[in-house]
Amino acid sequence: MKESSNKQWRPFTANCCSAKDQTIFGNFSRCRPSKTELSKNIAPLPSFRKLSFSDVSRSSSMRIDEDLAGCLGPDLYDFQLSELRAITHNFCSNYLLGEGGFGTVHKGYIDENFRQGLKAQPVAVKLLDIEGLQGHREWLAEVIFLGQLRHPNLVKLIGYCCEDEERLLVYEFMPRGSLENHLFKRISLSLAWSTRLKIAIGAAKGLAFLHSAETPVIYRDFKTSNVLLDSDFTAKLSDFGLAKMGPEGSDTHVTTRVMGTYGYAAPEYVSTGHLTIKSDVYSFGVVLLELLTGRRAMDKSRGKTEQNLIDWAKPYLNSSRRLRYIIDPRLAGQYSVKGAKQIGLLALQCISVNPKDRPKMPAILETLEALQQYKDMAVTCGQWPPSPKSKARNGVSTQMRLQARQNK
Ligand SMILES: Nc1ncnc2c1ncn2[C@@H]1O[C@H](COP(=O)(O)OP(=O)(O)O)[C@@H](O)[C@H]1O
Ligand SMILES: [Mg+2]
Repeated sequence: MKESSNKQWRPFTANCCSAKDQTIFGNFSRCRPSKTELSKNIAPLPSFRKLSFSDVSRSSSMRIDEDLAGCLGPDLYDFQLSELRAITHNFCSNYLLGEGGFGTVHKGYIDENFRQGLKAQPVAVKLLDIEGLQGHREWLAEVIFLGQLRHPNLVKLIGYCCEDEERLLVYEFMPRGSLENHLFKRISLSLAWSTRLKIAIGAAKGLAFLHSAETPVIYRDFKTSNVLLDSDFTAKLSDFGLAKMGPEGSDTHVTTRVMGTYGYAAPEYVSTGHLTIKSDVYSFGVVLLELLTGRRAMDKSRGKTEQNLIDWAKPYLNSSRRLRYIIDPRLAGQYSVKGAKQIGLLALQCISVNPKDRPKMPAILETLEALQQYKDMAVTCGQWPPSPKSKARNGVSTQMRLQARQNK
């Protein structure tokens, strides 16, 4: 771990895309109060109901510990850096669980004597990369949102740490890691069809819950690396660093700086900065396509026409006959033909260019739940393998590609 330096928080303006995970940061002004500002105790934190992201970003001076503790309740712990250092073996790389735009995530173990009332358990500790693009603002958003929202499909935040420049978050440990690792890392076994459906349903429940509040919460960074999996593959949303309160009353959208991840962010949000719950629905559609095809939303290692998953898959989604050519070959035909057809159509609706044409999360959830009954596996229906020619180019035969293009 990096030693804390004595340098002041620098205001930072960027309009760039980080190479690591292609995160979009439009005119991102980093909000890290200086040590002196932190200790001034000027502006109290707004309560969750009244909180908007701009409340957080406007407050360059804010009380941290007392006010957070006051508004977040007793089951969220305020840890010391030395405690978190100890349980993660000084953030040793052997205990590294993952890494994202905020920083690294390490496994640690809390024993029964750690804090009164806190049960012995493994935890995941996320440590801010002080040199990175994210900072206090994202940390605070996570504490405020996850610290107050409790749902079986949201990861549980156990506590936080704010010492000098250091910002850390402590979550329940998710034994199966991220959906990204299962779907795209070749070391893991391929996810079964029913498991993919279960994960999609769990994630849809999480988003539906966020959207259902009187003032909805827009998650804004829905993607496979932010969907974590419990031991039984229950999906839980994590990483609320970019979450934002949605529009209130008759307002249709909130306008924000464009932030999120290329390949997942809704086109109207990228072009106008107008954010709605339908922006999350678009990203959900992209993840549905990733579950269906086993391909990444954006994959620079592929040929030009196949780098963007949506552009590549769209022509195949509205026909089960064509759809089979883009289904994840790792499923080896062990998928429901009817189910895949419905998911293809659902994904197509979710990625509609006009946000009004995208369904709402409860309707999506209903559709997905109905698909669990289908047992018509492609391999037993004679629909797998699709055709010998399909091996020719990434599972899509020339004939099918031409046909799909004509029907575009
Ligand atoms: N609670 C957890 N349990 C297990 N692994 C986790 C947990 N939280 C995060 N990870 C791993 O760390 C990665 C990055 O975490 P994330 O919260 O998305 O960080 P960032 O905000 O930097 O994107 C995840 O994709 C996952 O692989
Ligand atoms: Mg993340």
